[in-house]
Amino acid sequence: MDTNTNFTLAIEDLTVSFDGFKAVDALNFYLDKNELHVVIGPNGAGKTTVLDLICGKTKSTEGSIKFLNKELTKMAEHEIVRAGVGRKFQTPSIYENLSVLENLEISYPYGRGVYGSLTFKRNKTVLDKIHEIAKQIMLDDALDTEAGLLSHGQKQWLEIGMLLIQDPQLLMLDEPVAGMSVKEREQTAELLNKISEGRSVLVIEHDMEFVERIADKVTVLHQGKILATGDMETVQNDPKVIEVYLGH
Ligand SMILES: Nc1ncnc2c1ncn2[C@@H]1O[C@H](COP(=O)(O)OP(=O)(O)OP(=O)(O)O)[C@@H](O)[C@H]1O
Ligand SMILES: [Mg+2]
Repeated sequence: MDTNTNFTLAIEDLTVSFDGFKAVDALNFYLDKNELHVVIGPNGAGKTTVLDLICGKTKSTEGSIKFLNKELTKMAEHEIVRAGVGRKFQTPSIYENLSVLENLEISYPYGRGVYGSLTFKRNKTVLDKIHEIAKQIMLDDALDTEAGLLSHGQKQWLEIGMLLIQDPQLLMLDEPVAGMSVKEREQTAELLNKISEGRSVLVIEHDMEFVERIADKVTVLHQGKILATGDMETVQNDPKVIEVYLGH
């Protein structure tokens, strides 16, 4: 296929084996700009491993991952972040002792712009950006609050904000609504729908009600392979998907 160049992310024939066990097995996967794609599937299907491969945490055995035409399989983790890939892990990694504002500031990509790393100071540009992001993540009234005092859901949003402030072209979230209240899930769905404008978002999630609210496309992974892919309705009605995943 020579269609890769049109996609933000094009994964082809991606395989990783751990002592002969193929956790991801000849995977082909494409992601467009403005697309919010959710990956679902049973425990151990290889979902988190796919994110690990994209962000360079795990090295592939075979295959390619092209992101904006850069080959990620040849790049180090920090280079992949700099290229515009943001990844949120299952447990939020925020600084509990710092305020919301300080957490966002620490994530600001100082030194990447024309001014270089010498201008590490809180100027108006930075503050404006922090306020813009805080509003998006519904924490604009909590900028001075110590992050450790936030609710579980708010902590998850803060971590999303810490990624957004770096303006990634690809944002990856692993089970973002696990442990959230019903209200927080609804607010997170709205947030994700907004932040997929202008970028690509890849989400792993088990909560099907949530998936239905956010997904442009759904891919079902099973034993490292794609079982089905398409819109929510197509996937939900696929007999293979019902058998291995939704029927449980
Ligand atoms: N670094 C590793 N070394 C060895 N085996 C691994 C490694 N990472 C993942 N695996 C194995 O690969 C398989 C897929 O794991 P993965 O975490 O990707 O599943 P998952 O789809 O995210 O599952 P869950 O829904 O439970 O989070 C599992 O059998 C896991 O034990
Ligand atoms: Mg996982």
